[in-house]
Amino acid sequence: MRALRNIAILTSGGDAPGMNACTRAIVRTGIASGYRMFGVEYAYQGLVDGKFQSLGSRDVGNIISQGGTTLGAGRSTAFKTPEGLARALEMIRATEIDALIIQGGDGSLRGAQALSEAGVSVIGIPASIDNDVSGTSYSIGFDTALNTVLDAIRRLRDTARSHNRIVIVEVMGRACGEIALRAGVAGGAEVILVPEHPTDLPAVAAQLLDGRRRGKRFSIVVLAEGAGHAYDVQAKLEAVDVELKSTVTVLGHIQRGGDPTAFDIIVASEMGYRAVKALQQGQRNVMVSYSKGDYSLVPIPEVNEGSKRFDEELFDLSQILAR
Ligand code: F6P
Repeated sequence: MRALRNIAILTSGGDAPGMNACTRAIVRTGIASGYRMFGVEYAYQGLVDGKFQSLGSRDVGNIISQGGTTLGAGRSTAFKTPEGLARALEMIRATEIDALIIQGGDGSLRGAQALSEAGVSVIGIPASIDNDVSGTSYSIGFDTALNTVLDAIRRLRDTARSHNRIVIVEVMGRACGEIALRAGVAGGAEVILVPEHPTDLPAVAAQLLDGRRRGKRFSIVVLAEGAGHAYDVQAKLEAVDVELKSTVTVLGHIQRGGDPTAFDIIVASEMGYRAVKALQQGQRNVMVSYSKGDYSLVPIPEVNEGSKRFDEELFDLSQILAR
């Protein structure tokens, strides 16, 4: 194997606030350690198309607090084909890239494993507003998204209170209820619906009606997109009782953008630094993980085989607090 000289960075999947701070940290740590740094434009598609750009310290100036990703993100169908993978490998060889640092969610880490199995040195960094990557308790972007959702819930609460209404807020999370659960707890939601638990609408209706009887004039329902569609939930609740009239807000991609919080910038910077150090120490095919205030390295195949643990205790607490 060649000595480590050229390192490229990819930001893949959905964009997440903090990706830029991470890219900046990778580039500057890499340069400080004597490596040449490159960015891949538009993630795996850019690998297939050979879109590499050389990155110096100044190229990552003033992006620390920008949301999104200046490298471009995306999900590539071409890369998932054998021809696409072969083309990506050819481009990596032609550009003399010795290692890739890949920021992204579960799909991106599966791509990282495919590259690693084809002989490419990779390091993964969990970045997904859904916080759905297993093997780490935190993924870059989650804190910012959570605060965006909380801000929306607080605004909706004003209207709910003023009109004695039920408000249904649909948030992101196809397979993982982290955003719904934590934003629901922080926003004082009466009902939190997550993909990890079956959605029992008759029980939700009974709970909301009981709340009304006990003097609750308004209620907040936070629904993860993977637990149902807000307009269906609205129709089904209203069909049970006219008392259950509600308004729906689907937050959508509003949750993905915005300036990263201090927490996201710091974790992103530390993860970027640790990814370069891991390569320097000869580590390959591992992901930088953050749990209980500590960083560690987890084998990427282990991450891809695992599934994110749902915090049942916090869910239980949310139901107690909703009384
Ligand atoms: O993976 C992050 C995420 O924001 C999911 O919560 C959401 O379902 C999905 O991306 C939306 O993806 P896209 O931007 O490709 O529509």
